[in-house]
Formats: sequence, structure tokens, C-alpha cells
Amino acid sequence: MKKRNFAKPLSENTHLLRWVEKMVALCKPAHIHWVDGSQEEYDALCARMVEDGTFIKLNQKLWPGCYYARSDANDVARVEDRTYICSLSKEAAGPTNNWENPYEMRKKLRSLFAGCMAGRTLYVLPFSMGPVGGPMSQIGVQLTDSPYVVVNMRIMARIGLPVYAEIDKGEKRVVPCMHSVGAPLKAGASDVPWPCNAEKYIVHFPETREIWSYGSGYGGNALLGKKCFALRIASNMARDEGWMAEHMLILGVEDPKGEKTYVAAAFPSACGKTNFAMLIPPDALKKKGWKVWTVGDDIAWIKPDAEGRLHAINPEAGFFGVAPGTSVKTNPNAMASLAKNTIFTNVALTPEGGVWWEGMTDEPPAECTDWQGRPWTPALAKQTGAKAAHPNARFTAPAAQCPTIDPDWEKPDGVPLSALIFGGRRAATIPLIYQAFNWSSGVYVGATMGSEMTAAAAGTIGKVRRDPMAMLPFCGYHMGDYFRHWIMMQKKLSVTPRIFHVNWFRKDADGKFLWPGFRENMRILKWIVDRTRGRTLAKETPIGWMPRYEDVEWAGLDFPQEKWDQIMAFDRTAWRAEVMGHEELFLDLHDRLPKEMIYERELLICRM
Ligand code: OXD
Ligand code: MN
Repeated sequence: MKKRNFAKPLSENTHLLRWVEKMVALCKPAHIHWVDGSQEEYDALCARMVEDGTFIKLNQKLWPGCYYARSDANDVARVEDRTYICSLSKEAAGPTNNWENPYEMRKKLRSLFAGCMAGRTLYVLPFSMGPVGGPMSQIGVQLTDSPYVVVNMRIMARIGLPVYAEIDKGEKRVVPCMHSVGAPLKAGASDVPWPCNAEKYIVHFPETREIWSYGSGYGGNALLGKKCFALRIASNMARDEGWMAEHMLILGVEDPKGEKTYVAAAFPSACGKTNFAMLIPPDALKKKGWKVWTVGDDIAWIKPDAEGRLHAINPEAGFFGVAPGTSVKTNPNAMASLAKNTIFTNVALTPEGGVWWEGMTDEPPAECTDWQGRPWTPALAKQTGAKAAHPNARFTAPAAQCPTIDPDWEKPDGVPLSALIFGGRRAATIPLIYQAFNWSSGVYVGATMGSEMTAAAAGTIGKVRRDPMAMLPFCGYHMGDYFRHWIMMQKKLSVTPRIFHVNWFRKDADGKFLWPGFRENMRILKWIVDRTRGRTLAKETPIGWMPRYEDVEWAGLDFPQEKWDQIMAFDRTAWRAEVMGHEELFLDLHDRLPKEMIYERELLICRM
């Protein structure tokens, strides 16, 4: 790195300068580094982390520009029970969020952050969610003592000099994001590869639009632009300003006529959003001219344009994807995206300096070191069930490297949305696909979504939990108010997107998945696009419109009608229990539940 004076501020914004000074006085770092976002700076930070043992540089012939990190075994996922929405009133946060009195929490945070960066460098990291200067974009500045976070954020967001320039214009509110791994270094003490603290706090102050994160260096706990800003804080901004911040992928479907239809889809964490966003149609449909373009794989910011049509941007610049299960068979586009310039965390390391994870290849490597640095062999895995990669192991890859990245993915005004899809991981009850009758019944479908829990968050894996719009861990205010915001959005729209629900995960009586999934999901996506464009018929059922067997394109897939009938079955008894599950959520939210949700539930019961 050229010998620039890193402590010299790169912004002239007096608010920013004063805030940095105040936080330096609180956290007492040994050094300050204003991040310029250059490649040179990135390379130097990575090289330093290699020296310090945080990073291993992968075999550059196999994995050019790639690095490998192992986290502490106690810092492997988002910690929802340590995540707080500290609104002024407890009611505003609602029963689905952890709340703490903001005054008390600030006191707690001040004591946690006092001297927390001793011996470390405080990085001033300006970032833009969305293209820099775009009308739908937002700006934050993260102060962090983790160089790992800085380099990951360089992939996940737009950072550095152009963002300072935006801040210096003084036109947009800047969200202050404090982050410390909570591991001060005593003078002369040696560091560990993954500093963190057993005590973790991921705190949001929605009214003042602030984020404070302490104790974790991992993923959504630490890359504050992602879940903390782009969902929890942004959901508050969106409610106040008349737009939507959603846990949704965005993709464009090109049909044989060359017309593109954009859809956004909400699935809970680790339910295949990245795979769906990068879908390659089965050969038979590909030949006919169907193609899917990727705009984003995790978050959508959605806003009505002047004509009342919803447009969406992907506020991120990279993919922070779950590695296990990703392969050239399941997601070749993700594999191409992560082939270079990628950071791998908690996957396994192969003897030749490459990476591996469960599901990456049919044949595991003969030996490797696992995500905790221990020797791993297939025989050991058979004996003990030990996983080479942690189930929530991740790759951080630049979105621009995705072969199907949409030419308009960075369009500042976003892409026009024609359909919204909700989906969960459900072994029973929920059919493969149905379409809601209208906007408010669609909001009900999203609001009552359920899914079996995955490894993306600490918790009981496999248990069904209600995860409205896949936003349960990410909505920064009362879920009942959030439903109301969804209902109200319709008033701003001249064209409402069609709303669908999918479930790729329904199983038969023997516990086998009924649907092949992956590329074959294109057949369902095609029906969704055809419905949206008024090109196909559907059958009315108590829960919504469903395709008949003959409405689906089956070329190249042997999927018999009897299996279709099984996967599309509407089971009245199971749905009774399902509606009870809806009711449990509604009881929790009753004081702020929009009446439309009650009416929709009543209509559903009547139809049943
Ligand atoms: C994610 C998540 O990392 O939802 O995207 O947990
Ligand atoms: Mn997510």
C-alpha cells in the first residue's frame, strides 16, 4: 500500500468528523484508518490478515484472488436472541422483536464500547447501499475494528471515495453503524485469528437510524449494510417514506419473444434464494428461448415510480451465500460467481490449497481440514457425522461475476416488478404453487408464511416457525404495522404485482421430496410469468388460483399427473391446523393487526 496517512480524514463533512472523533475517544483504538475502497488497499488488508493468521491465501492457480477464513466456533451465525430493536416504546418494536429501553441500552453499549478497540485499528468505512448517488440508494458509515469486515464489505457494498463525495454533498442522511468484535488487545499481547466476544449485542435504534453491533465478526451480525441496515433500519425508513425494504431476491425472466418480466421472491434464510435467483432453465425450455437474469439474491428495495408501478433495486453489490449444497449441478452460476476474488468462511480447506464443502462434488476429497482446522476424512464423517464445512459456511462473491447478472442490475431507478413470490420450506400441507386472489389476500399469504428453521440462525433446525414475508428476524418494527404498510402500499399503485406462493420442499409419505426443484423450478416460474401476462388459465381453489397439470410446460421432464395431484393437493384437515398456526401469530400481533388480515382469514375459512 502506498504510504498514505491513513489517519487523515477523507471527508470534509463536519458531522462525520465530529462523530468519528467522539467514537475514537470512546473506543480508544491504537490507529485510525479512513478506508478509500481501492484495490490496493484491499490487497494490503488481505495480505496483513494472511500474516496475522485470519486469512489463508488459497492456491491462486485454482482460486485466483480468493481467501479463506475460519471463524471462532462460537461465532458462526446471526444471533437473533441477541438482536435488539430499541425503539422509544416497546410497542413500536412489537412482540416479535427483542426490545430494551433505549436509554438503558445506550448505557450498556457505552460501557461495552469503552476501550473496546484498544490495540486495534478503527476503520472508517463509508458505504452506499444501492448504486452511489442513485435515487433509491442510502448511505452509511461503519466504524469497525475488523479488517475482515472491511474486505467483505468491499464486495457486498459500494464503499470508499465515491461515498465520501456523496456524504460531503450533505444531501442524504447518513446512518451511523458502530461495530466492534469486542476483543481489546493488551499492549504486546498476541491476537487470535478470529477475535470476538462471548457477549454479543446487535442493536438498532430505529428512530435515530443507528446501529451498534458488539462481539461478533460474522455475517449479518457484522456486515452492517446487509441485515441491520438494508432490512431492519431500512424497513423503518421505507414505512415512513412510502417504499418497501424486503428480504427478497430479484430476477428477470426473458421469454421466447425476448420480453422480460421481473419478479421478486421472499424465502426465509437458507431456503434457496440464491439458487432461484440464478436459475438456469431446463434444456427443453432453454431451447425454446427462456432465460433467467439475476438482479439480486437476498434484499430488494421496492418503490412506486411516478406512474404507480413498483420498481426494485438490489441494494447489495455481492452475494453472501450459503456454501454447503452449492455445486455445478445445483447452481453453476453461483460456482462461476465464486470462482475468483471471493472470500470463503468456515468451509473446508483441501491439501492443494482449495476449498470444499458438503454437496460441492459427489466425491469428497480424500482428506482436508475442516472449518475448525481439524483433519477431516470421508471415513471420519461416516463414523461421527462430522461436517467438513459448517452448515452456515459462506462465500462472499462480487455480484458482477455472476454469468447471468442482469444488464440493468445497477440501474439506479431499479427494474419494474410484475410479480411477488412468497415461499417456505414445508414438508407438508403447502402445495407447490398457488396464486393469491388479489393484493390483500396476497398480503395475507405473505403474512402467514411458515418455514422449517435452517442453520442460518441459531435455533432448533427443522421446527416450523411463522416467518411473515421472510422478515421475522429482519423487520425493524411491529409486525402488525408492517402488514398495514403492505396493505397501504396498494393505494400508491396503478398496477399491483400478482402475488404467488411456492413450496419446493413438500415430501411424500416416505419423506422423499416430491418436486425435483432447482432447474425444474423454471416450469413454475414460467407459469407465474404467463399468469402475470394473462397468457394462461388457472383453477380456483379455497387458497387461491392453481395451475392445472396441463397448464405447466412438461417438455423434458417425466412428472406424472398422479404425482402432480399429490404435490398440489389441498388437504382440508391439514389446512385447519395451518389456519390455527396463522391464528397463533395473529394473537401475538392482535393489538396492531390490520382488520384486512382478519377479513382475509375469515374469507379463507369460509372458502374452506
Ligand atoms: C442471510 C440470511 O444471510 O438470511 O441472507 O441469514
Ligand atoms: Mn437472507
